[in-house]
Amino acid sequence: MSATTLLKVSDLQKTFGGKGGLLGRGRPEVRAVDHVSFEVRQGETLGLVGESGSGKSTTGRVLLQLEHPTGGEIEFEGNRLTGLSKSALKPFRRKMQIIFQDPYASLNPRMTVGDFVEEPMIVHRLVGGRAERRARVAELFDLVGLDPSFARRYPHEFSGGQRQRINIARALALEPSFIVADEPITALDVSIQAQIVNLFQDLQERLGLTYLFIAHDLSMIRYLCHRVAVMLRGKIVEIGPTEAIFANPQHAYTRALLSAIPVPDPDVESQRHAIAFDYETQKSPDGAEMRPVGPDHYVLA
Ligand SMILES: Nc1ncnc2c1ncn2[C@@H]1O[C@H](COP(=O)(O)OP(=O)(O)O)[C@@H](O)[C@H]1O
Ligand SMILES: [Mg+2]
Repeated sequence: MSATTLLKVSDLQKTFGGKGGLLGRGRPEVRAVDHVSFEVRQGETLGLVGESGSGKSTTGRVLLQLEHPTGGEIEFEGNRLTGLSKSALKPFRRKMQIIFQDPYASLNPRMTVGDFVEEPMIVHRLVGGRAERRARVAELFDLVGLDPSFARRYPHEFSGGQRQRINIARALALEPSFIVADEPITALDVSIQAQIVNLFQDLQERLGLTYLFIAHDLSMIRYLCHRVAVMLRGKIVEIGPTEAIFANPQHAYTRALLSAIPVPDPDVESQRHAIAFDYETQKSPDGAEMRPVGPDHYVLA
């Protein structure tokens, strides 16, 4: 893995609601992403973990410019994305794709899955003629482990795992270099999850992809990710190499998260007590900075 930075996020903020907001009037302000900085390196998988509501999905959507940040900067391949016009953004949008949790919601029930995979190529005028695009669709089906003849079928004919493969094929249609995978296996049967995780790994090797992999299953994160970022209430509280995070967690919240991993051995499991996390006393003060605690390993002071 090379250490070239593909994506760099500096002081990113996304706030919902609050007094000034059109829809948020009267509602308390939510700092979904609260002064977050990190980088994603070429060819790596960076895991983003944290409990529900901590701001993981918002971070992913803002990174891809699906939502405007309230503040901060996003750089992709050395180009500043924040502040670009829609048309100036278009070439970068191609290179950055997202895969969502629910493979059922994302597919269009009235479109054949082949048309669904082909559609982005038409929108971005990527591949010349129809025959060429169809050939590319067949190639993509093959790449994600689906029989190319399935392209003529409709979404209801497929299982959850197959649907997620179709979503992945569509995301790959534009030859992206960076993919945000937002809990892409959470909605799938446990028996299927490992196959999809293996597909992500296989595609990374073959296509040199870089991933931001959002998940709450820590055993999956441990297996798949080169580095892990831990998110708590809109902030990254710890980031480092996966093995350092698991062997030597520094932030109290990281320790609490890890202590909640189910242990396969039932005797060990019954002896174990999850470490409680006290949100009020552990709140990081505003303006707190990350400090190094090991090679490439940082914790919020
Ligand atoms: N469109 C939105 N409008 C208002 N609040 C939102 C919106 N999207 C997310 N939030 C809030 O932002 C916080 C972070 O949400 P989210 O990024 O979905 O967290 P996660 O993916 O970690 O579960 C939550 O408090 C959520 O309710
Ligand atoms: Mg989410």
